[in-house]
Amino acid sequence: MSIQRVEVLEALKVVGLPNTGNNIVEGGAVQDVIISDDSITIVAMVSTPVLHVKKTVEDGIKKALTEKFPEASVKVTMKVEIAKPTIAPVEEKILPNIQNIVAVASGKGGVGKSTVTANLAVQLAKMGFKVGLVDADIYGPSMPIMFDVEKEKPLGKNVNGKQVMIPVENYGVKMLSIGFFTDPDQAVAWRGSMATKALKQIIFDAEWGELDFLLLDLPPGTGDIHLTLVQSVPVTGAVVVSTPQAVALADARKGVSLFKMDAINVPVLGFVENMAYFTPEELPDNKYYIFGKDGTKNLAKDMGIPLLAEIPLVQSIREAGDVGRPASLQEGTPVAEAFYKMAQNVVTETIARNESLPPTKKVEMSETAGCTAN
Ligand SMILES: Nc1ncnc2c1ncn2[C@@H]1O[C@H](COP(=O)(O)OP(=O)(O)O)[C@@H](O)[C@H]1O
Ligand SMILES: [Mg+2]
Repeated sequence: MSIQRVEVLEALKVVGLPNTGNNIVEGGAVQDVIISDDSITIVAMVSTPVLHVKKTVEDGIKKALTEKFPEASVKVTMKVEIAKPTIAPVEEKILPNIQNIVAVASGKGGVGKSTVTANLAVQLAKMGFKVGLVDADIYGPSMPIMFDVEKEKPLGKNVNGKQVMIPVENYGVKMLSIGFFTDPDQAVAWRGSMATKALKQIIFDAEWGELDFLLLDLPPGTGDIHLTLVQSVPVTGAVVVSTPQAVALADARKGVSLFKMDAINVPVLGFVENMAYFTPEELPDNKYYIFGKDGTKNLAKDMGIPLLAEIPLVQSIREAGDVGRPASLQEGTPVAEAFYKMAQNVVTETIARNESLPPTKKVEMSETAGCTAN
């Protein structure tokens, strides 16, 4: 049997390259074709670590080649080259090593913003991205507990005469929390400017290294502190967390309005509905819509904003948070799967945002003149 390389490449043209509208040959995903006797080995490269993309391409190659060359044994080696979802031009960047800053916000407190942020961070890290997390919730910093690093104190380091903080690391995520530096009773009494100053230090005066994503767990609400914070940091996009209750939805809408303000203009990547339904661990197919059904889905549709995930209310999510091991670390559970899909959608929406919009500008706030972009 003699199989020609051109025949193999021709046969591979039926295999689509997901999200490109192209096939894998013309899309440049076929890296190598090795033919020996009765075996064909294909080395293919995809640019996203998203598992189903890898699997779709791999299955597609196997199917196409076994159909065309039924006698040959077909092997596929898949490689992943992680796409850095960025287009921000260098001169615009105040944090040049950080590709994407994603703020996680909620109108209302207690909706699970921190739980969502912690699990998003862990999932992105598992996908192979370099991830940092800033716990900016001065009213209730919870990341030290959620990441089981409560007892740690971030070390300082002198870099070219400047003192910088070294983030604490766990589960592949670099983290700094306002909770490491203050006691929360004290923090609530801070004036806005003091809180903002401390938060800016955590973000700008820390040794984050190269990051694909820096997540910001913002304080709840739409107050002055995060207004200023969102204006000083070039936030790539925001994720707004809500529960299905009417009060939470109304506040989520306000959260979106904040990001859409002319002076801020941060694209909203999407909503996450947390506690979308209750499900008992042992009966995962039973869903009880105790806080109402489809609330966030309808709001998302109404506002033309993607719904990134519907995360169930499950006892293990709360337990995992309390013991400092985010639920996403428990592989193969429906909960981990829900958070994984959420992270996939955040990546997809970030890439789409970077492809379609210019980078977010930092805004300087001046007391008299209001806000001006610079
Ligand atoms: N999907 C969920 N299922 C079960 N418990 C949850 C879920 N999301 C959050 N929780 C729990 O609810 C409480 C509040 O969540 P948290 O993430 O701290 O909210 P926020 O940051 O919005 O104030 C925590 O005890 C957390 O473990
Ligand atoms: Mg919180």
